[in-house]
Amino acid sequence: MNRSSTVQPAQAVQARCIVCREVEESPAADFRCTRCGELLEISYPSWAGENAVDPQSLKLTWKARRTSLAAIDRSGVWRYRELLPILSDPGNAVTIQEGNTPIYDLPRCARSAGVERLLAKHQGMNPTGSFKDTGMTAALSVAKEKAFEWVACASTGNTSASMSAYAARAGMRSLVLIPQGKIAWGKLSQALDYGAVTCQLNGDFDACMRVIAEVVRRSPVYLLNSVNPYRVEGQKTAAIEMLDQLGWDVPDHVIVPGGNLGNVSALGKGFLELRDLGFVSAVPKISVIQAQGANSLVRTMRETGGARLVPVHAETMATAIRIGNPASWRKAVAVLKATGGACEDVSEEELAIAKAEIGADGVGCEPASAATLAGLKKLVRSRFVKRNDSVVLILTGHVLKDPEYTLKFHRGDLFEGISDPEIAKLRRPPIIVEANADAVLRVLESA
Ligand code: F0G
Repeated sequence: MNRSSTVQPAQAVQARCIVCREVEESPAADFRCTRCGELLEISYPSWAGENAVDPQSLKLTWKARRTSLAAIDRSGVWRYRELLPILSDPGNAVTIQEGNTPIYDLPRCARSAGVERLLAKHQGMNPTGSFKDTGMTAALSVAKEKAFEWVACASTGNTSASMSAYAARAGMRSLVLIPQGKIAWGKLSQALDYGAVTCQLNGDFDACMRVIAEVVRRSPVYLLNSVNPYRVEGQKTAAIEMLDQLGWDVPDHVIVPGGNLGNVSALGKGFLELRDLGFVSAVPKISVIQAQGANSLVRTMRETGGARLVPVHAETMATAIRIGNPASWRKAVAVLKATGGACEDVSEEELAIAKAEIGADGVGCEPASAATLAGLKKLVRSRFVKRNDSVVLILTGHVLKDPEYTLKFHRGDLFEGISDPEIAKLRRPPIIVEANADAVLRVLESA
């Protein structure tokens, strides 16, 4: 049998505590270690030996699958299923062709940040418009194999949009908890469209997380937040797909926005596994950028060196990352340390400018994603990133997720009373014009 295309049975998969290393045969409903309460991660004991997988032949297998007509091969997640052997039968995968996201170059943003070349892997080009789909296909498929009827999550919007779409595809029911008034309309409308039971809680995301943890302990509902380690397994494939797209050329830096810190944990796991299995010989430095008003990881690193979480009361207009008590902080600290990445925060103005610049490169993204470019500028100024380093930004959400933010920026309502020349240069408010060519030509002359 061809070793490279063998899918390992699910019993070769272990859920193990990241702190006390306890192996949970059957993880608790809240995916916390029953001994110490910390998070679990998935490990594959059979990978420990030498030559566990054959990287060269797997690279060829994965390339060949790009031309396959089978749904499982066309998924940019399940294409890499040899490194994602979490299902008893991969035929059970619930897929809507997630992954397969483009890598764009951003010449204007590169100039503005002071690097020679800048790439962005746009995870907002997933089916529901955010990076969450790559993890959702994995964890929801596990829920389906385990015959759950209901799935649930707390969310700042994107997780709920993704979960409700995948649940609908699988014929399952979904329960969404979101902070009232603090999620972008695009995301809320998706949950409604995909048929979720949507509860707007009078509290922030951190409160929603507390409530959902109790709900899943008290009813047979499968939790799909990124504390679910299968979410992380799916999301790690973005690292595999990125290197596959780059011809296995490892960039110097990968820069990610940080909220609940599942994404950095997943990307880190992906890159480190690829290195440990011999696909590549190095890993990128993975850096996390947060909004200044929701900078729990930044403070955790600065004030405790990563030893103890410093929670904050989160406030930012980038509602996706308005999170003060990130669940996956320990995993994120481990990734920063293992890859040598940095952790920075950026102001609301820096973030808005970066978002407009990504838009002006013809790409666009939602506000939280733009933290990456704003953070890169800081990392270049501090010389952590060198001018000729190769850098990939992870854009996490689609530009249409939060049109209200974009409109407010361009109309001048986002920062009322503040006049920033950089913002003024980027603003393109809609112009109200008489319905005749002369009027339009006058606008053209002065543009
Ligand atoms: N960018 C976007 C667009 C997001 O939606 C999120 C998180 C992040 C970045 C941060 O990623 O949490 O893995 O560090 N959104 C979650 C949600 C919390 O509920 O949709 P993270």
